[in-house]
Amino acid sequence: MKKARVRLGSNSYDICIGSDILMQTGSQLKEAGFSDKLVIITDPTVKSLYGDTLKQSLTSEGFTVIILEVPEGEEQKSLETAGRLYHELSSFHAERTTPILALGGGVIGDLTGFVAATYLRGVPLIQIPTTLLAQVDSSIGGKVAVNHGQLKNKIGAFYQPKLVISDISVLKTLPTRELSDGLAEIIKYAVIGDKDLFTYLEGNLDEIKSLNDRALEQIVFHSAKIKAEVVEKDEKDFGLRHILNYGHTVGHAIESASDFKVRHGEAVAIGMLAAARISNRLGILDQNELTRLKGGIRKAGLPTEIPSLKVEEIIQAIEHDKKILGGKIRFVLLKSIGDVFITDEVSPSLIEQVLVGWNEET
Ligand SMILES: NC(=O)c1ccc[n+]([C@@H]2O[C@H](COP(=O)([O-])OP(=O)(O)OC[C@H]3O[C@@H](n4cnc5c(N)ncnc54)[C@H](O)[C@@H]3O)[C@@H](O)[C@H]2O)c1
Repeated sequence: MKKARVRLGSNSYDICIGSDILMQTGSQLKEAGFSDKLVIITDPTVKSLYGDTLKQSLTSEGFTVIILEVPEGEEQKSLETAGRLYHELSSFHAERTTPILALGGGVIGDLTGFVAATYLRGVPLIQIPTTLLAQVDSSIGGKVAVNHGQLKNKIGAFYQPKLVISDISVLKTLPTRELSDGLAEIIKYAVIGDKDLFTYLEGNLDEIKSLNDRALEQIVFHSAKIKAEVVEKDEKDFGLRHILNYGHTVGHAIESASDFKVRHGEAVAIGMLAAARISNRLGILDQNELTRLKGGIRKAGLPTEIPSLKVEEIIQAIEHDKKILGGKIRFVLLKSIGDVFITDEVSPSLIEQVLVGWNEET
């Protein structure tokens, strides 16, 4: 098992990464000083696949366990579902010392984190992410939230977990499309902070896609480390943490312009390429680096072409996000793979030129 540490003073915690480590959760939690009872929150698919293994690991160490189930889907990240969970926690007599374990993808992680942050003004949270995206992104860094109408992820808190347990073996049951969402984020980490990780990805994408343990452990570990380092420097997202949004300016616009029919990972892939093309047009990024990035994205099985959307619709969505961001379009641009910076200085006309001329460029 590999461990990455998130160093945030008294809120520091370990991220444990390895294969078949789910069954060690009970001993890990005992070692961390927990005893007595705890609550698992999960969804039906993940429960049927991994609920028993986790429960057994915990009961064999003497814990009393209850499992609370939440249906699948983004719409469950709601105050209504949180309300139902508060009620169930209270019926179970969960106390301030009762840990809540989030077993699932980012939806379960964000919702459970929100509930843990607010129930009794905060109970210990353990993240057990089961999608690639959740292992490299949403389980780390303490952003917990629910949606409220149009306000996606806007009702929430910064609430760090006590421990993250990322068992890469559970990724074997993950549908391919879910794997792609995680791969897009991993490419993002490589581009923003680790050119060696990018080189590793280029040479090992076949092993990664065929879910080779060694390769998965490697990429989850290095991605988790990059996220941890960024969070350590800017826990509350006042500056540097924005580099984690590389690819998300155009990516998010494509997602909303398509009415969320284009998946997050696919949209981010095109968004990463768009930011790279803008960097190239500005003369900051070398053509070879752009070609290399495009090759990596393509080899990961992610799209490099804009889906059938009108450029005006994408621009409109960017303008909409700009209003929410206080009149600024914020981009993360590249000097090279592994070296990025944040800027508000990209003109709407340049974005339009890049999107309109997309198919003519290599
Ligand atoms: N908090 C953060 O910093 C942060 C960062 C990125 C994304 N997010 C949030 O994460 C959410 C998306 O998360 P996601 O991509 O993990 O999707 P998800 O949580 O919706 O999970 C996707 C599907 O995969 C299934 N699944 C999970 N693990 C499985 C496994 N091992 N085998 C088989 N099926 C499995 C789930 O049942 C679900 O149907 C969004 O709500 C997004 O806002 C949060």
